[in-house]
Amino acid sequence: MNARFEPSGRLRGTLRVPADKSVSHRAAIIAAMAAEPVRIGNYLDAADTRSTLRAVQELGALVDAREGELVIRGCGLRNARSAAGTIDVGNAGTLMRLLPGWLAFQAGLRFTLDGDASIRRRPVDRIAQPLSEMGARLEAREGRYPPFTIHGAPLRGIEYRLPVASAQVKSCLLLAGLVTEATTVVEPVPARDHTERLLLRAGAPVARTGSGLGEYRTTVCAADELELERIDIPGDLSSAAFLITAGVIVRGSRLVLEDVGVNWTRAGFLRVLERMGAIVLGDVEPEGSFSALEPATDLDVQSAPIEGTTVDGDEVPLTIDELPLVALLGCFADGDTVVRGAAELRVKESDRIATVVSGLRGLGADIEALPDGFAVHGTAGLRGGSIDAHGDHRLALLGAVAGLASAEGVEVAGMEAAAVSYPGFTADVAALLS
Ligand code: S3P
Repeated sequence: MNARFEPSGRLRGTLRVPADKSVSHRAAIIAAMAAEPVRIGNYLDAADTRSTLRAVQELGALVDAREGELVIRGCGLRNARSAAGTIDVGNAGTLMRLLPGWLAFQAGLRFTLDGDASIRRRPVDRIAQPLSEMGARLEAREGRYPPFTIHGAPLRGIEYRLPVASAQVKSCLLLAGLVTEATTVVEPVPARDHTERLLLRAGAPVARTGSGLGEYRTTVCAADELELERIDIPGDLSSAAFLITAGVIVRGSRLVLEDVGVNWTRAGFLRVLERMGAIVLGDVEPEGSFSALEPATDLDVQSAPIEGTTVDGDEVPLTIDELPLVALLGCFADGDTVVRGAAELRVKESDRIATVVSGLRGLGADIEALPDGFAVHGTAGLRGGSIDAHGDHRLALLGAVAGLASAEGVEVAGMEAAAVSYPGFTADVAALLS
């Protein structure tokens, strides 16, 4: 589906962005692992998180939607059921990498996970290798790609140092660690910590040490069962980031985005924006915090002139899904904007270094690809044109925001991809323009 986004007037108003995708996936999986029913408020209704609900149902969890909340009656930690066939994760990389952490200890059962064309290009060896060290038996196409088969087995604890910062790999190992004496994941630099927070809420023995943007160690020990009554999911900062960017670069805009999750391990984009001179006000969680809660705030965004910045190393995992927007902001900034140390972008829903660079260049940007990021020379705006989403939700949304701020408008080919995380995006933009 093609959609056209014309240069817009200013964006004004107050709205709620969709619920956090990362927290929704985790809430459904952890509820399915729990012994008692869990109520989930504000579960994300989008393609990715629907895949997760279908998956946990196939594994024996019961899911009821009632009065604006979900109730999930889980299987208990060790009692997942054998699924009737292959579990289809759709486009959801988080589901593909987290669920095996639970399935790996369903001794005697065998599960196969598969997904769409994008999922089949994304590596699972990053979880297969440590899970097999723990005692699981796994099979992947060419040893690396889905379909991915897991033979559940008794697991032993390991200490694992992540070779690349990945919250998905960390989360998978922490879930698997719930039946081991102790499993420790060492992160050279921190990545999002939603799994640890939810496990803490569910009464699992979890300890996390570290400070600032340095090394973190998270240990889980054997839990009898997980128990938590209710999870309320805040708005998704990664979805809000598209409207924030539009608010910054479309002249005269003023937006308030309500109840956005601002866990500091997700909020790198807000710090990057601040350095660029953008005006985004809100109460962001202090760096290094760790608690069972997911903090949220209202974000107040105003358009402003911005300047280039550099994002590298430590900051990348905290900003990973917003880096395409840093490139777009760079087009509107004074000076150069450079992102480095982000080779992980190549294994996202698309190769986001290649797709962002070719997409924005097609709209008139002065941007070049680096092996591990990109460099943008600010040109005080974008001409417009057309951009292909390559089946990647964040590319479709990037194209749409570029269109609103462009001189001539942008045609997005494959806008339907936005339904993975933000199905109501076009309607939300229309509301802010009316
Ligand atoms: C996610 C973690 C990130 C992110 C992805 C969602 C998560 O991936 O890019 O969109 O929910 O854990 P990695 O942990 O592989 O970097």
